Amino acid sequence: CGIVGYVGPRDAGPILLAGLRRLEYRGYDSAGVATLRGGELVVRKRAGRVRDLEALLAADPAAGRCGISHTRWATHGPPDDANAHPHLGGEGAVAVVHNGVIENHADLRRELGARGIRLVSQTDTEVIAHLIAEELSGGVEPLDAVLRILPRLEGTYGLAVVCRDFPDQVVGARLGSPMVVGFGDDEHFLASDPSAIAAHTRRVAYLQDGEVALLSPSRVEIFHRERGPITPRIDRIDWQPDSVELGSFSHYMQKEIREQPSTIRDACRGRLRPAEATAQFGGLNLSASRLRRIRRVVFAACGTSWHAALVGEYLIERLANLPVEVEYASEFRYRNAPLDDRTLVFVLSQSGETADTLGALREARRRGFPTLAICNVVGSTIAREADGGIYLHAGPEIGVASTKAFSAQVAVLAMLALHLGRLRQLSFPAGMEVLRAIESAPDLIGRILDREPEVIAAAERVAIARSVLFLGRDLHYPVALEGALKLKEISYLHAEGYPTAEMKHGPIALIDPETPSVFVAPRGSLHGKTLGNIEEVRARRGPVIAVGTEGDDSLAGLADHVLSIPDAPEVIQPLLAIVPLQLLAYHVARLRGCDIDKPRNLAKSVTVE
Ligand code: G6P
Repeated sequence: CGIVGYVGPRDAGPILLAGLRRLEYRGYDSAGVATLRGGELVVRKRAGRVRDLEALLAADPAAGRCGISHTRWATHGPPDDANAHPHLGGEGAVAVVHNGVIENHADLRRELGARGIRLVSQTDTEVIAHLIAEELSGGVEPLDAVLRILPRLEGTYGLAVVCRDFPDQVVGARLGSPMVVGFGDDEHFLASDPSAIAAHTRRVAYLQDGEVALLSPSRVEIFHRERGPITPRIDRIDWQPDSVELGSFSHYMQKEIREQPSTIRDACRGRLRPAEATAQFGGLNLSASRLRRIRRVVFAACGTSWHAALVGEYLIERLANLPVEVEYASEFRYRNAPLDDRTLVFVLSQSGETADTLGALREARRRGFPTLAICNVVGSTIAREADGGIYLHAGPEIGVASTKAFSAQVAVLAMLALHLGRLRQLSFPAGMEVLRAIESAPDLIGRILDREPEVIAAAERVAIARSVLFLGRDLHYPVALEGALKLKEISYLHAEGYPTAEMKHGPIALIDPETPSVFVAPRGSLHGKTLGNIEEVRARRGPVIAVGTEGDDSLAGLADHVLSIPDAPEVIQPLLAIVPLQLLAYHVARLRGCDIDKPRNLAKSVTVE
């Protein structure tokens, strides 16, 4: 979810709304604002997108120079108007927006009920508004009211609060869910992500867990809920807020798929060193001798980033001969995974805000292991908290289904594998081959993009299926997983990724003439075995779509549709093979009339665990 707050001389509504537009990647189930105007709290909220809220505000504006706003990704209660934030307490005395999860909300609800307070939503947030209202009615000021009730909340929160009788105050609080204060001239901002306010100010203070901020037009005061007043540490935002236009494309996903040749070039720029047949990174903050001592690599990530990490596992094993473990961040953070000072821990995250990935980073650091990040969004929480890392430089990714960030991650991981390999046993000529292969990837992807009509023909077949299998071996196993995830995310078809040969041990029971199998089968060391697996599917009359190497007649003779990719060294084949699968998902979703850039139930960045 996303939060914005404003207090100052300007009309708050447009600032709150523009901020929400930048935060919509965190959820788009519902949106709302509350402003203070003439002794009254004005609330506008509704289920749907920020643009739906915008329409509501156009018809029925919320004027005022102080306010808060929110875009929601539902946790407790369906995404309807009643559950949209802000939530009110004390019959319109206080409005609250909240990110995170209040784990003891059921107890608090019961307690409020016993005191005769009726709640109108199913959210965990509404209890906060009522608790604050109770304090206010006892004559307490907003800041103290918030400080008094916080110890009663179990769980996580990023909070913004406005109170009817205090028309020039916004209170913010943070525990486990990010909040940042922005400093302007006679105006102040609050946001869950600095990108929401970067257009107005470059001077920010990131709240730490347990801190509460009181914003008024003239000043900001920050307190720790136990330790009292704090002098805020002002940081400068040194990046530009990105603006992203759709241009001639129908969807951001389509644009981002087509951008991949240039995103890979950008990810590699300045990092490939032909003179030493290696790659190098400015931000790793680790010496060559330290890296040579490494005996194991651990990656923690979620979703598509987890799939990219799996490709990284195969690449690092091949090129650097190091054991790699790829962990779901949500599992890693609560396990007692053995780490030692010869383990290199990386988290991967496009957004740099995913709660589980951030949790994994913090857990590894808490245990005393320097942790690196592979991240796209500059200045994101994970990028700030990591001990070092590698930026993707993929530019803003807007489509919820990740595409160009995946390929930028894979390109970075290929370079990391090369770097680690060259610090060990990988020879100069072998390193050079990898380097040249990485360099050639953008042009080869360009050629795949020219073959979109092949994909559209296959998409027509897939669009009428109920379930689809994606199968790949070795480096292409993660590609199969990612292909299945793309289809699932945006077309709502059931899809499952599996290692090709493992298919015999279960998924083959699903094969019938209505269930297509998509094989990721470019020419390579295990190609003959894959052809055998395709025969097994055909013998059961299952339709076959295959991603294969241009001119591979043996595959063409077996598959109903071949999605061709150019011949290329195996280490970059995942970068190529994923492109037709991204396009396949895109076209299936288009044929099925789905909302491609904002698929139902998903968020680009999931900031609750
Ligand atoms: C969400 C998104 C996915 C993304 C995952 C991890 O589930 O919908 O597309 O892969 O989070 O996001 P991250 O920003 O950490 O890479």
